[in-house]
Amino acid sequence: MATGYAGFKAERYACDERWTYVDEYTGKNLHARDKSLTDVLNQATANSDKYGLLPISVSEHQGKFLMLQARMKGAKHILELGLLGGYSTIWLANSSPSVKITTVEVNENNARVAKENLQNAGVLDRVEVIVGSGTDVMPQLVQEVKDGKRQPYDFTFIDADKMNNWPYINWFCQMAEPNAAIIVDNVVRQAKLVTHPDLEPNPGNRRMIENIKDDDRLDATVIQWVGDKNYDGFLMALVK
Ligand code: DHB
Ligand code: MG
Repeated sequence: MATGYAGFKAERYACDERWTYVDEYTGKNLHARDKSLTDVLNQATANSDKYGLLPISVSEHQGKFLMLQARMKGAKHILELGLLGGYSTIWLANSSPSVKITTVEVNENNARVAKENLQNAGVLDRVEVIVGSGTDVMPQLVQEVKDGKRQPYDFTFIDADKMNNWPYINWFCQMAEPNAAIIVDNVVRQAKLVTHPDLEPNPGNRRMIENIKDDDRLDATVIQWVGDKNYDGFLMALVK
């Protein structure tokens, strides 16, 4: 039985081997040109592992997807909730040399390790790291945007405490540019989104989905993923 990092991954994220083969094949062919980027991302993962951060960053494919989405959107000012070791932040920062990111992390040790990783990736000068809980920081950011002290955001990646996904989206809408994009991680979680006798649904994700349904500011869908984080999904939304 594998222990440590490998053991956690093996237990938490058991994979159908077909998913692994497809990720390996597509990654080898389509991510090879990102070599210097994947090198610093692998260094970030190793450094985060060294300091005992949970190995729950987005996968390489999800990271590249986030980078391409931010590039398609032409994102200039991104808000991330849940920095962890900065893995997704490094992908997002590479969507454009001029993009600026504000990222919120509640855990001081995570933030310290992430800053090392962002520095090593050469993007720390474009990333503002705020240490605090999302529920404390989000209303402050809204106020600063309203007071003209901070630019509105055009893109957010929400990957923090899942119970607050709806409040986070609601706050984001109050400081978003028209047509801002929202991506939320871990929305499907082995189908623990739907009610079924064998599944215990995640109430934070259901509250988010059902509030979006009744909210005219938002238009959204959910994409299911399989891969080295097992079976999960992203919510994607546009703020009208
Ligand atoms: C887990 C995975 C995540 O991507 C996350 O943001 C939080 C928790 C998990 O597997 O428990
Ligand atoms: Mg996540």
